[in-house]
Amino acid sequence: MIPSDTPEIAAALAHPQWRDELLTEYAPLGERLNPLMPCIEWQVQLPWIDAILKLKRQRGAVILAHSYQTPEIFHGVADITGDSLALAQAAATCESDLIVLCGVHFMAESAKILAPHKTVLIPDPEAGCSLASSITASDVLELRRQHPGVPVVSYVNTSAAVKAVSDACCTSANAVQVVEAMGSERVIFLPDAYLGAHVAKHTQVEIILWHGRCEVHEKFTAAQARHARERFDAKLLAHPECPPEVLAEADFVGSTSAMTNWLDRERPPRVALITECSMADNLRVRFPETSFIKPCNLCPHMQKITLPKIHAALLHRQHAVEVPPEIARKAKRALQRMLAVGRRETV
Ligand code: 13P
Ligand code: SF4
Repeated sequence: MIPSDTPEIAAALAHPQWRDELLTEYAPLGERLNPLMPCIEWQVQLPWIDAILKLKRQRGAVILAHSYQTPEIFHGVADITGDSLALAQAAATCESDLIVLCGVHFMAESAKILAPHKTVLIPDPEAGCSLASSITASDVLELRRQHPGVPVVSYVNTSAAVKAVSDACCTSANAVQVVEAMGSERVIFLPDAYLGAHVAKHTQVEIILWHGRCEVHEKFTAAQARHARERFDAKLLAHPECPPEVLAEADFVGSTSAMTNWLDRERPPRVALITECSMADNLRVRFPETSFIKPCNLCPHMQKITLPKIHAALLHRQHAVEVPPEIARKAKRALQRMLAVGRRETV
């Protein structure tokens, strides 16, 4: 149940006339979200969406939302949506001085590092990531000591402190390209062991791995993937954070944006997105002619971001992300090296 913790929201929920006016005003959005939520839920979400959109205009804010955000956020209030690379690029280039980052903490930190003069708010500062918490800056320094002279590429799913002791960052959309841009025969790749193993299969560069895992993607099994294909005749699209035996079953492996682009090109009748559940919900709106088959797993960290928390962040300008200047300066170098490489959609 969504709490009605402001007078404005409580009035909209309680007053039938106000509610009917909102339902008429937002009818096109309501229709798009209709397949994804019962109408009673839509009536509860709507006053929050309306209040957030008004507050966003008043504050001149821009809302960035990752593909794993729930549909009412992704379709209801976000200005820019995409994978972690797209959000990092948008933070660096968007016009607004106030960014609300609907995603997990490392994404908000990256936005702040790339746009230090802007205010970056995260609606719930506790929205973490099992990959980011799997490694510290001291671990990276120890790896460097064990492998002198070998460059370090860190996945953006890391803390600012880890980025600061890395040579370059990458996302799942450009990992191979960044590794090869290091110009070295060996590269330390961290923290995701599965993404690292996937990269190693697509390059001649020798990859030294860390043992981090995504707690959402590591749960998928090859048997689930085969079941989706054999039982439903579905195409299988998998995120490279999945175990290798799952990736081996997939028709396509790529970042969240790459999966979207693949669907746009191929338009299969049935597909199983082997990734976070909200991604399939968001794409169901865009590709109504495609049936989306489970399996999927929810990311508990992404799910911490809700409409009431976005509203509170905007209202009180709360949970501004700060990064110590020396760490930010070094982390920015690693992020900018990644942005200079850009995007490669196929791995
Ligand atoms: P993308 O880089 O594809 O957005 O993935 C980020 C993430 O956290 C996946 O679990
Ligand atoms: Fe981190 Fe996995 Fe959640 Fe992505 S899905 S934010 S990698 S825990």
